Amino acid sequence: MLRGVFESGRPLTYVRTSEELRAARLLSEAARRLFPDQPSPVWTWSLTEGFRNGDGETVPGTRSALEALEFVSACGQPGIFHLKDFHEPLRESAEVRRRLRDLYASCHDRRKFVVITSPVRSIPDEVERSVIFVELRPPDVVELAGFLRDELNQSASPAAAGALGQETLYLLARALQGLTLDEARYALRRALASGRAMGPDWIPFLLEEKRFLVNRSGVIEFISDSKTLGEIGGLEGLKKWLIERRKLFQLRDSVSAEIVPKGVLLMGIPGCGKSLAVKAIASQFELPLYRVDMIEIFSGRHGKPEGAFVEACRMLEDMAPAVLWFDEIEMGITSTDSGGEQGRIFAFFLTWMQEKTRGLFVAATANRIDLLPAEMIRKGRFDEVFFVDLPLDDERVEIFKIHLDRRGVDSSAFDLKQLSGFTNGWAGAEIEQCVVSAITKARIEDRELAEQDLVTMAVSIVPLSRTMKEQINHIRQWAFERAARASPRAADR
Ligand SMILES: Nc1ncnc2c1ncn2[C@@H]1O[C@H](COP(=O)(O)OP(=O)(O)OP(=O)(O)O)[C@@H](O)[C@H]1O
Ligand SMILES: [Mg+2]
Repeated sequence: MLRGVFESGRPLTYVRTSEELRAARLLSEAARRLFPDQPSPVWTWSLTEGFRNGDGETVPGTRSALEALEFVSACGQPGIFHLKDFHEPLRESAEVRRRLRDLYASCHDRRKFVVITSPVRSIPDEVERSVIFVELRPPDVVELAGFLRDELNQSASPAAAGALGQETLYLLARALQGLTLDEARYALRRALASGRAMGPDWIPFLLEEKRFLVNRSGVIEFISDSKTLGEIGGLEGLKKWLIERRKLFQLRDSVSAEIVPKGVLLMGIPGCGKSLAVKAIASQFELPLYRVDMIEIFSGRHGKPEGAFVEACRMLEDMAPAVLWFDEIEMGITSTDSGGEQGRIFAFFLTWMQEKTRGLFVAATANRIDLLPAEMIRKGRFDEVFFVDLPLDDERVEIFKIHLDRRGVDSSAFDLKQLSGFTNGWAGAEIEQCVVSAITKARIEDRELAEQDLVTMAVSIVPLSRTMKEQINHIRQWAFERAARASPRAADR
């Protein structure tokens, strides 16, 4: 990236980064390529020390910002002049701004490149047009793999590190994607401290660091609660689709972009397994899962919603490969959209869906589907839109079985078909609740769970679909025309 800037011949660059050391390293690499015959072509300036040459020797009389610019201007040889934290003098002094603009002319076509690095973007208007602004993204897989190799070689067991194959190295590097090198170093220490053998066993420890990182953003959450497809009762249509797509997603770098799965929209009735299904997608694809909290985005606590949303999407691109979950994506939509903010966010989202990196699979979930803009549902944005309906008879049998078995109850002892008959119109969450309540009751009375406990609970619980009949019918009718069914057969209710 930096190389491209230099090759274009632009003499003034402003790099926003919090990784000063990494920036310095990238600059010396770039310098080695740009000036192969020159021994130390990078000069580094800081507020406290003035300029130092490539060998670390200070250059007298360059402490002040003006002197520094003077020095660059007078310097007879080509090279890279790295100015650390130069945004301060730029902000404070009109004279410095003036001199920097003059420098543009004196460096042009002389193969002298001035690079300002700063953790913030603070470019005064007058110099805006003279500088090119670059954001240093976190290191990519190749850079991370190199970093890992170096770090491991210096670690306690360089022999084990040497034996680490290229494939494993890249596997670990991918787990670190999205982290700065400093953060990656912490993650690595965590893995080393775990005492596990160097290799795939390290991945959970490396991912842990990412969890801290995204959680700090306040709008993204790393979800560690993993579920498998086997924990979902029914939804066979959705399961089959996912199993097929998994293969394509894994081949994403070698097949044409068109057929790489981009994402899926799950909409439907509350408590029927949408969130559950998203967690199962992540484990099916063997990827970490990140949830974007739309309520937080729109809360205003993280700046303007549009900015917060764009920032979150960018941050997640650095985390690829991953599954990205927009939960209750319709949350942001209200009838009173002041300033068209929501419209812009959704427009951005739809474009981003098309352009985002191949390594991100988006899973969006929604209840109030009638609120979603029509373009969102139209084919092409998502690969598929699934409607998750109330479970059918057989599906309820499966859900009972899953929840009983999970709690250590032998479900084969019960007539699940009969229970399914009693629970027509129930959501999966309600079936789970029934199982939990019945088990609790039996435990309190200090005995094993009996079928009658389940039946008693089943007749006493009033499902949401009865109390909210109107609303559920509305959701259904709306969805039937617009979405594929996550369960294969039409509901006969
Ligand atoms: N098909 C199902 N199979 C097994 N368990 C289910 C199923 N549907 C729901 N459940 C149980 O109910 C719980 C709640 O479901 P989930 O959170 O996935 O619903 P949801 O569709 O996301 O609802 P909401 O719209 O309220 O977010 C799940 O954690 C799971 O234990
Ligand atoms: Mg949910």
